[in-house]
Amino acid sequence: MRQFSTILGAAILAASLSPVIAADAEHGKVLFEACAACHQDKPDALGPSLKGVVGRKSAALDDFRYSNPMKRANLVWDEANLREYITDPQAKVRGNRMPFDGMHDPKDVDDLIAYIKTYK
Ligand code: HEC
Repeated sequence: MRQFSTILGAAILAASLSPVIAADAEHGKVLFEACAACHQDKPDALGPSLKGVVGRKSAALDDFRYSNPMKRANLVWDEANLREYITDPQAKVRGNRMPFDGMHDPKDVDDLIAYIKTYK
């Protein structure tokens, strides 16, 4: 019994020390459906296309009419900025026009960003 719990303890320790559990892009793809309601590759879509958005400057698409706050934000959509914006859009870019109040589970946000990175 004693030996068993030692092994169990070691397994739990190993699991908790393993590098951050990889973000799950498959799950992110499912989550992205909430974004795709607005972010589509159509001229009349409510939101700008997010294809290739990782590494892109904010408000960079010519065919989308961004709000002034978004035009002034002057961000590069790297992972850190995306994470903050997705978690709380109004905190990150105050006054921007995205009608989405944020995704609050950090694991969901990681999964979503893992998917967005593959969305090109
Ligand atoms: C109800 C519609 C809607 C939903 C849902 C939505 N967005 Fe948006 N999004 C917008 C609009 C509109 C803008 C432009 C905001 C502005 O110009 O102020 C925007 C802008 C953005 C931008 C900036 C793009 C750029 O070119 O600078 C990112 C990044 C973004 N959204 C990500 C997301 C993600 C990720 C989700 C899902 C978690 C999401 N959005 C859900 C409507 C939406």
